[in-house]
Amino acid sequence: MSSAKSASETPRSYKLFIDGKWVDAESGKTFTTPNPATGATLAEVAEGDKADIDKAVVAARTALEGKWSKVSARDRGRMMYKLAQLIEARIGDLAALETADNGKPIKETTYVDLPQVVENFEYFAGWATKIEGETIPVPGQMFNYTLREPVGVCGQIIPWNFPLLMAAWKLAPALAAGNTVVLKPAEQTPVGAMELGSLIQEAGFPDGVVNIVPGYGETAGAALASHPGIDKVAFTGSTEVGKLIARAASDNLTKVSLELGGKAPNIVFADADIEQAVSGAMMGIFFNQGQVCCAGSRLFLDASVKDEFLDRFKERAGRVKVGDPMDASTQMGPQVSEEQLNRIKGYVDIARGEGASVLAGGCPPQLEGDFQKGFFFQPTIFGEVKNSMRVAQEEIFGPVVSIISFDGEEDLIKQANEVVYGLSAGIWTKDITRAHRFARAIKAGTVWINTYNMFNAASPFGGYKQSGYGREMGKHALEMYTQVKSVWVDLSGKPIGWYGN
Ligand code: NAI
Ligand code: MG
Repeated sequence: MSSAKSASETPRSYKLFIDGKWVDAESGKTFTTPNPATGATLAEVAEGDKADIDKAVVAARTALEGKWSKVSARDRGRMMYKLAQLIEARIGDLAALETADNGKPIKETTYVDLPQVVENFEYFAGWATKIEGETIPVPGQMFNYTLREPVGVCGQIIPWNFPLLMAAWKLAPALAAGNTVVLKPAEQTPVGAMELGSLIQEAGFPDGVVNIVPGYGETAGAALASHPGIDKVAFTGSTEVGKLIARAASDNLTKVSLELGGKAPNIVFADADIEQAVSGAMMGIFFNQGQVCCAGSRLFLDASVKDEFLDRFKERAGRVKVGDPMDASTQMGPQVSEEQLNRIKGYVDIARGEGASVLAGGCPPQLEGDFQKGFFFQPTIFGEVKNSMRVAQEEIFGPVVSIISFDGEEDLIKQANEVVYGLSAGIWTKDITRAHRFARAIKAGTVWINTYNMFNAASPFGGYKQSGYGREMGKHALEMYTQVKSVWVDLSGKPIGWYGN
């Protein structure tokens, strides 16, 4: 693989990473990935399909039963720690590539995405030596214990909104627990994962432990999810595709974990610190161009603070610096693709049609030069939204927030839970009893109190309801990547006796 180059140079090229080798797709096909800030081609990438997935699954199975099974837990942890160090040493150029591939501001890739990638590999490196079975106090002259073993070959399908971080969330617990992996990055953002392939090799993982097959969802992704040779499929993406994956996996009873969409309520009570709540609402919806599954996209405002809050919020939204994502002072880059941009524009029309008003944004910004070809959109606020409207019920996945009113705590909880999703929620109040009452009443996998978008590799993340099942990060992630075996041993030395002697 070529070493770091600035994103503006001639397009890079990547092959598939299968069994420790860089290979062309069986079909010989390639696809290109653009820089969403300018539309210029960033890279040409081999296009994996069913035949390549087949090869990768065989390589993963061979490694699982061969070399990888002989690597001690300590050495697994050391390889993962080495990988974390190799990534850390390249944060600058990996962040620039991630920004060029996805469009998110360089400030975010440098200070959030990449450091969290490192943190996840480090955290799970530590777990490798701490995955233990138990002894069970069964009656009689018997010894019963459990072994916690890897699930096996894991198919992992990830989205484009945090390309490298999603790869880390998936790979780190799988590797710590001794599994092997076939990873399919999103077609919009394959570059980071391919760079990771080189570092995985450098860190000393045996060939075939991690295989990376970029390609489209309907072809490579579908082939992976329905593959009879995998033991588990882990997916992050749309709820729609999550359902397809669960269906495909059901044919082989492959284990499934899903991290899907969200429509999080972010709630401001009258007693909140308004400045803190405004900054939290900004972080909740404008971070990563709003392309965040746990985005605070339904902003519930207490009637008594609504006007003051909205004045400040509109003013702050209007000041968000949208533009060149490589500029260190940029706060919002382009959406990842024209498809996503059009989707957001479509929701602006839907909002107007439903009777909502546009309080800020609602269209692309005026930019100059090459950035006119980028997929930019302005921070957008919809007022007069009812929780039953489509813009309040459907995941928009853009910098678009709906303002909703509520009448007391009971009404609030009802509205907050009236949605098919349950990934996360935020609440802003100084009343600690109310805050914790809310944390219990809300049906969501994460609750933030007087903060938003906080993550740590040690803290579990995942969904209630149609936001999915399984938990990533923290020790709970290991449950998804291990299975328990119960072993019975007779200590009496006598025949069983049931049928007499
Ligand atoms: P998507 O769910 O289609 O794509 C996510 C991943 O799944 C990609 O790697 C894709 O190649 C793969 N995939 C697509 N179809 C597949 C299939 N039939 N079988 C196996 N794998 C398949 O998401 P998309 O189309 O990029 O975005 C649409 C919407 O999904 C967004 O607007 C957003 O609402 C939601 N989304 C949610 C994410 C999350 O973090 N929960 C991430 C990305 C998208
Ligand atoms: Mg799709």
